[in-house]
Amino acid sequence: MEIVKLLEKGFIEIATVMRDANSISLGNITEHNNNSGDDVKTMDLISNAILMDILMKCEQVRTIGSEEEDTLCETGFKNAPYLVCYDPLDGSSNIDANITTGTIFCIYKYNDDGTITNGHNIVASGYSIYGAATQYLVAHNDTLRFYQYSNKRQQFDLLHDNIRIKSKGGIYSINESSKKTWLDTRYEKFVDKCIDEKYSCRWVGCMAADGHRTVIKGGVFAYPANKKDTSGKIRLLYEGYPFAHIFHIGGGFSSNGSISILDIPFPKNIHQKIPIILGGMYEKELFDSIC
Ligand code: AHG
Ligand code: MN
Ligand code: MN
Repeated sequence: MEIVKLLEKGFIEIATVMRDANSISLGNITEHNNNSGDDVKTMDLISNAILMDILMKCEQVRTIGSEEEDTLCETGFKNAPYLVCYDPLDGSSNIDANITTGTIFCIYKYNDDGTITNGHNIVASGYSIYGAATQYLVAHNDTLRFYQYSNKRQQFDLLHDNIRIKSKGGIYSINESSKKTWLDTRYEKFVDKCIDEKYSCRWVGCMAADGHRTVIKGGVFAYPANKKDTSGKIRLLYEGYPFAHIFHIGGGFSSNGSISILDIPFPKNIHQKIPIILGGMYEKELFDSIC
């Protein structure tokens, strides 16, 4: 897809900035606050500017939604078929400590009447990760394709052309420090079940990285609603829908606790938050078995 090819350029630019600049200053908090109420770091703004600049020139894109922009941005290509949403830098609390961050993206096709119904309007979704290697995964045409950037060849090489998510894994990924404030009591029982089944726990604090590990190794990722974040912390348009699309295509599941994330109606607020659980089909059974 042409848009994904353009995003590739953005991933390389973002990765290059992070490799060459002082990570501590990239993690500095700016004077901005974004629509989700988060502190905005220098690297959040740099990543947003890189992707915005690329997508604004793309004739296939009608509108752009970003975590770091209050409202949808119009490109000027009024009849273009797609809305592109992205989280320019996911896991920004990791920047100063040089821990993995990523970018999450989602490409939606407009209905003929100019609306978007729900997550089933997605034509492609994916994420990049800036870790030991720069990699990205794209979910498109019913397959998960996975690439790694080669510095030597200055290009992304295909590592896998059809990743499948294991039906049962061995890791649960959830910020357990919030468990006393979770609003849905099933999550505590679910974590207990995982521990009884000898699952281990991992939490990077970057959905791109925690989600990616779950795609590669199997298991479960969840961010429940809690007393502070009463709808959870994950934003539907540029974190929830894209990961749900990835998990469904890879053979896993997504849920907000009652329905598939893809079936949630497209929200009026582009920064709408949702509770989320993603995983393999065994973990779905485990979660569904809790009353
Ligand atoms: P962002 O850096 O784009 O604001 O996203 C961070 C999100 C998500 O990626 C991650 O899973 C979660 O926030 C981490 O939350 P905790 O601070 O509760 O660990
Ligand atoms: Mn994020
Ligand atoms: Mn972000």
